[in-house]
Amino acid sequence: MDVVTSIKELRQRINRAPRPIGLVPTMGALHEGHLSLVRRARADSATVVATIFVNPTQFGPTEDLTRYPRDLEADLKLLEDNGVDVAFCPSTDKVYPQGFATTVEVRGPALPLEGEARPDHFRGVATVVTKLLLMSAPDVAYFGQKDAQQAAVIKQLVADLDIPVHVEVCPTVREPDGLAMSSRNAYLSAEQRAAAPVIFGALSAVQTLYESGELSRQTLERRCREMLEAEPLIEAIDYVAVVDSGSFIQAADLLGVQPVTLVVAARIGGTRLIDNVVLKPEAG
Ligand code: PAF
Repeated sequence: MDVVTSIKELRQRINRAPRPIGLVPTMGALHEGHLSLVRRARADSATVVATIFVNPTQFGPTEDLTRYPRDLEADLKLLEDNGVDVAFCPSTDKVYPQGFATTVEVRGPALPLEGEARPDHFRGVATVVTKLLLMSAPDVAYFGQKDAQQAAVIKQLVADLDIPVHVEVCPTVREPDGLAMSSRNAYLSAEQRAAAPVIFGALSAVQTLYESGELSRQTLERRCREMLEAEPLIEAIDYVAVVDSGSFIQAADLLGVQPVTLVVAARIGGTRLIDNVVLKPEAG
């Protein structure tokens, strides 16, 4: 595996790499969720590029940029063990040199929910992902369903900016008790960690309710909220919403007609966790 830190080196390496090229962008602190993307990219591609860059522009002023977990050595070993060909680990000033003055701002799916709770977040994500796509020119870029709204925002920017890449969204990887894998799970105390699977429990219960024929958006959202509120360690619920999976607009009339996504953001202690499930109408 080649480890490169400059954009020039990355481009040189990409230019002689066999295609298709699969890109897995990450912020490091790698877990099975990231590695499932790497393995999928490995299976699909002649060359796998993974990036490790804790992108400062997607963190709000009071968020966890400084304490975000970082272990470059361990991450590089995991990437190498899982068959990555090129690891791109730039410093912040390589990505955002002095005088940097351009941002990519997506409206549509970037506006509600996470967009409201974290006002500058998607501008930072869209800007860095656009840059990573332009730097590495992949054929396919891999993202996790866990960050469903992020995936919708990236699909939107790729379509709107005519970037020639396919965006592949891969299934959420969960701990045995259902908690979605996330680098931020490391912030949970043992007690909080034991309470955290309530989120997937609530999502699964609503999925079952939906599959038993309940098509009222309000009823489904209320049930999910009630289950979360029953857990004393959940300190705040930022949102519970059934949304159209592409636009992220709250979906009332689509229920039972096409797949929609039930999304949740909740706080346990100071840790904000997000998760989702897709509600699919019965085939036939
Ligand atoms: O999902 C993430 O880890 C980040 O938002 C991403 C896509 C790597 C951009 O910094």
